[in-house]
Amino acid sequence: MQKFAVFVSGNGSNLQAIIDAVKAGEIKAELALVFSNRRKALGLKRAEEAGIKTLFLDRKHYGTPQSYDRDIVIHLKKEGIDFIVLAGYMKLLSAWFVKQYPNQIINVHPSLLPSFKGMNGIKDAFTYGVKQTGVTIHFVSAKMDQGPIIIQEAFKVTEKETLESLAEHIHKVEHKIFPKAIALFVDGRLKVKGRKVEILK
Ligand code: GAR
Repeated sequence: MQKFAVFVSGNGSNLQAIIDAVKAGEIKAELALVFSNRRKALGLKRAEEAGIKTLFLDRKHYGTPQSYDRDIVIHLKKEGIDFIVLAGYMKLLSAWFVKQYPNQIINVHPSLLPSFKGMNGIKDAFTYGVKQTGVTIHFVSAKMDQGPIIIQEAFKVTEKETLESLAEHIHKVEHKIFPKAIALFVDGRLKVKGRKVEILK
């Protein structure tokens, strides 16, 4: 069975959806490690409660982003991690890191990429006044929020929408489609050709 790690920086509601999907047998892989760059990330607590091994590494103890990434990868290799899922990991992975796991890192982003990249996708789309927004699940490349797209789900932004209601809607969609995308990957149903990801029947 493939082993994977989930990286979190905050709340970890997507991590929770993934834990639940693994438990339900919808994702047929072992969630072997939850890593965070933030000691206080609620995601770490969720992992501990689910009996999953956790790891926190403090960036402050490393001289360069490269040495930080290198140490994370050493831990991943030690655990025999086959692929990685970024679930609200708010730190850019170095090009070197991404090269260690080509098309084996999956990210969730709370907008329809390539619109509203970055840390505040929900708020940026809302403030811009978009009439539609949604969620993107994609492979991670060295450039931020730019790798090949696996799944997107869009929905209409109503006139009554508040930032809070929009965020709630986004998270609901994330929790539905992110575990699905991970399951497709685990089942070997994603074929990447350049920027295109074919979903095999
Ligand atoms: C999610 O909305 C995810 O799409 C976003 O962080 C949130 C994490 O929530 N990620 C990004 O913006 C990445 N650029 P969670 O910690 O409750 O899963």
